[in-house]
Amino acid sequence: MAKQFKPETLCVQAGWTPKKGEPRVLPVYQSTTFKYDTSEQMARLFDLEENGYFYTRLQNPTNDAVAAKIAALEGGVAAMLTSSGQSANFYAIFNICQAGDHFVCSSTIYGGTFNLFSVTMKKLGIDVTFVHPDAPEEEISATFRPNTKALFGETVSNPTLEVLDIEKFARIAHNHGVPLIVDNTFPTPINCRPFEWGADIVVHSTTKYMDGHATSVGGAIVDSGNFDWDAYADKFPGLCTPDESYHGLTYTKAFGKMAYIDHVIHHLFLEIQGNHCGMNGLHRIRGILACQCWGNELRRLLGCPP
Ligand SMILES: Cc1ncc(COP(=O)(O)O)c(C=O)c1O
Repeated sequence: MAKQFKPETLCVQAGWTPKKGEPRVLPVYQSTTFKYDTSEQMARLFDLEENGYFYTRLQNPTNDAVAAKIAALEGGVAAMLTSSGQSANFYAIFNICQAGDHFVCSSTIYGGTFNLFSVTMKKLGIDVTFVHPDAPEEEISATFRPNTKALFGETVSNPTLEVLDIEKFARIAHNHGVPLIVDNTFPTPINCRPFEWGADIVVHSTTKYMDGHATSVGGAIVDSGNFDWDAYADKFPGLCTPDESYHGLTYTKAFGKMAYIDHVIHHLFLEIQGNHCGMNGLHRIRGILACQCWGNELRRLLGCPP
C-alpha cells in the first residue's frame, strides 16, 4: 500500500485491513492478555516459532495497526509504538549499543534527548560525541571510533529549527558501517520522509504533531529495512549472533528485514517495557489524520505547490 497511494490516503486507509466480517474501524484491544487453547500454542509464541499476541507489554493489535500506518507513511518495512518520544529515542540507541559502545549525534536536538544521551546513557556505559550538523564531513567523520554504532540527528531540530542535511549524515554513517537514525517529529512523514534521503531508522515523538490533539504521550520507531546488519555483524552482536534468551535464535536470520524492530519488541520490551495501552494507540489514529491537515497547512504557509 505504501508505494501505491498518496500520504493523504495512507493516513486514512493504511495499517488496518479488515477481513470479511471484521469491524471497518480499527477496534481498541484494551486487553493485557490474549487467549489460546493450549499451553503448547503459548509455548510456540514464547519461543518465537509463531507470530501472535500474548501480552500487551510486548505487542497489542491496536498499537500494531497504528504502527503499520506510520510505517506506510514513512515508507518503512516495520514500525512499533513506544510509550513516549523519549522512549523511542532510548530504545532506538539501546537496541544496538551496549556498555562500552559509542555513538555520534547532532548537537542541535531536543534538550530532553540531549540529556538522555549525554547524562543518562553515559550511566549505562554508552558514550556520545556531539557534532554540529553543519560541520564539514571530515570533521564529523573524525569523531567516529572503532566502537561507534550509530549516527543520530533531528530532521528539523527542536527548538532551533535547523534542517538536517540527511544525505550528508547518511553518507557519513554508511562510510563507517553504522545506521543513521533520524528523529522526524517536527516535519512528520507528511512533509519529509527521511528514508528517501538515506536514513535507516526513523523515530518520532507522536506526542506532538502526529497526535495533533494533545491527548496522549507516545512515540514510534520505524525501520527502512535498508541497513545490512549482517554486513557489520561484529558491530551488532545483539542482532547478528545467537540470543540465549530464545534458545540461540539469531534475529537477522529469524526476522530478516524486521530484525531491528523485533529485537526491541521481543528482547527489550519483554524485559523492560516501553509500550502503551490500546486506547492510546487509538488516539494516535485521530492524530495521524490531523497531521495530514498540519502538513497541508504548513505547505500552504510556506507557499509550496499543492
Ligand atoms: C524532536 C523531539 N524528540 C523527542 C521528544 C520527546 O518526546 P516525548 O515528549 O513524547 O517523550 C520531543 C519532545 O519535545 C521532541 O521535540
